[in-house]
Amino acid sequence: MQIKILNSAKDIINEDLEGKNVVVIDVLRATSVMITAIKNGAKSIFPFENIDDTKQACSLNNNGLLAGERKGLKIDGFDFGNSPLDFVKEKISGKNIFMTTSNGTRAIQNAQGYDNLYIASYLNLSAVANILLKDRKDTVILCAGTDDEFSLDDALCAGMIVNKISKQIKIKADDATLSLQILADLSDNIKDTLKNSKHYSYLKSIGYENDLEYCIQKDICEVIPFYKDGIIKNIK
Ligand code: MLT
Repeated sequence: MQIKILNSAKDIINEDLEGKNVVVIDVLRATSVMITAIKNGAKSIFPFENIDDTKQACSLNNNGLLAGERKGLKIDGFDFGNSPLDFVKEKISGKNIFMTTSNGTRAIQNAQGYDNLYIASYLNLSAVANILLKDRKDTVILCAGTDDEFSLDDALCAGMIVNKISKQIKIKADDATLSLQILADLSDNIKDTLKNSKHYSYLKSIGYENDLEYCIQKDICEVIPFYKDGIIKNIK
């Protein structure tokens, strides 16, 4: 099984994904929100790149809520920003969520021609590693990154998934992927590794410390959001 980690949303655009699995990671915070929303009973999530398309699609649905951010902050007129802690059962159970974020939803839309697309973060990393092990397909792990640049929070999570898989089976990986696997092996404490990183520090500076504490928890749920035909639902 070959596994390759890509560093930002734009890096997947010319990638040949035929016959492969894709895993999209945007730990802070888009994929952590998606996992939390699906876990708490959201019926489905519709990811969009831009704000107007998100509003337009939501306006055509009579059970829809708008969610998303720009520069980390809630978009004017939206029901939710991008804080996973806001996506509680009472507010979202049975609802369709129309979502746009700066990097995470764009990463999902940039991937084309794959077999399966799974959504991951620290919250469900073992569940995702296990499904990849079960599928045994070559896999591209797409870190959404931040503004088309490498982001340590996503890359460390990707390294942890590769690490889990490589403990079970022999994998083929390029040097960039191997280096993140080694980093993951050395990182006992996620917070210590991320505390000076760019997006982590930015979200802290605008008051989202509780989101950070939540998003760096490993394996608190088993849900695997699965993207198909423009819609994210739980795989189970
Ligand atoms: C993104 O998609 O860029 C992020 O989720 C931004 C954030 O809300 O932290």
